[in-house]
Amino acid sequence: PTVLVLNGPNLNLLGVREPEIYGRTTLADIEEMCTRTAAEAGLSVRCLQSNHEGDLIDAVHEARETTVGAIINAGAYTHTSLALHDALKSYDHPIIEVHLSNPHARESFRHHSFLSPAATAVVAGAGAKGYVHAMEILAEDLDA
Ligand code: DQA
Repeated sequence: PTVLVLNGPNLNLLGVREPEIYGRTTLADIEEMCTRTAAEAGLSVRCLQSNHEGDLIDAVHEARETTVGAIINAGAYTHTSLALHDALKSYDHPIIEVHLSNPHARESFRHHSFLSPAATAVVAGAGAKGYVHAMEILAEDLDA
């Protein structure tokens, strides 16, 4: 069984982008952490990052039949994308929404998430480790 690990805009710059907020761990590191944690639970991962909203939506559609769960950090599309919300509503498996930072402790324009109503769980403010926690939550969910 395969899990989708989907990252949205600007997350390709992790490690160099505002490290005081997002930390110094790169996306490649995070994807490796996800792969390792998933393997311990007998899961494979498909990792994908895009700066384009439509590509993220296509990835969710493609994953509908080929994956059993998803971890998604949609970056700023979290706060703007009704289309991504709708795509996630078409995805009939557990979805864990992840944010490195805690958007609720930041600017008010980050307080609303279009994704949360479609998510099984939300992990925010735990930095890169949040992806590991998300994978553990997903693995437990899938066992149940
Ligand atoms: C983020 C939080 C968003 O508000 C922001 O636009 C991001 C990253 C996070 O991981 O903390 O790009 O999703």
